[in-house]
Amino acid sequence: MKIVVADDYKELSILTAKTLASQIFLKPDSVLGLATGSTPTLVYRELIRMHEQDKLDFAHVVTFNLDEYLGIDPKNENSYHYYMQHNFFNEVNIPKDNIYIPDGQAEDIDKECKDYEMSICKHRGIDIQILGIGQNGHIGFNEPDVEFEAATHTVKLNENTIKANARFFKDQNEVPKFAISMGIKTIMNAKKILLLANGETKVDAIYHMINDGITSQVPASILQLHPDVTVLIDEAAAERLDKHKIIV
Ligand code: F6R
Repeated sequence: MKIVVADDYKELSILTAKTLASQIFLKPDSVLGLATGSTPTLVYRELIRMHEQDKLDFAHVVTFNLDEYLGIDPKNENSYHYYMQHNFFNEVNIPKDNIYIPDGQAEDIDKECKDYEMSICKHRGIDIQILGIGQNGHIGFNEPDVEFEAATHTVKLNENTIKANARFFKDQNEVPKFAISMGIKTIMNAKKILLLANGETKVDAIYHMINDGITSQVPASILQLHPDVTVLIDEAAAERLDKHKIIV
């Protein structure tokens, strides 16, 4: 696991955007695994800037999002469909047919999960996966007590996640209780992973992910077994790490 401590959120976002740009430059038909939430918003803004000013071309890029709330309308501004359209897809030239986000309104959710996995396979896997991390150590919506073997599946969000995500909703009661999420197996199959975290609310999650053994109580701890993970964090999120152990 490579750990990069950036000076601040802006620097870690620019570093991440540059890594994605280099991936796309070297392999124009790259398959990107994408995350939502507050953490990657500046990465998307920087990629949009690169598209507009540096001619970064997304014409052959394929994307798979990590997750979506169950039962939510894609037009609902709290849906991850809406987030991705408004924070990224509307501003770059990724063909509509190359964009995959789990359908939280699918009639047959099990089939939706299987089809999602099949689509990833059809595109020969994810080249680079962007992850945020929950305060409880979740990745995607794989909550503590995670089943490491699971592929894309439905998950019940835990109280901690519902509370953390309530900031996007008018009322905590409006936060959906279930979601579709890539499983740990799906995430671990990505060829390369970039996990991003900023701010003091992530300090414990980052500490446990790196220092605890591999435990289902800290889903992100499984990343210790992935051969190509870079953890990009700011000084605040790195606060509890032993600086001598940071290997870059
Ligand atoms: C989002 C996702 C989640 C978030 C995590 C951190 O697609 O899968 O795992 O990455 O909850 O969220 P933020 O960035 O809002 O702190």
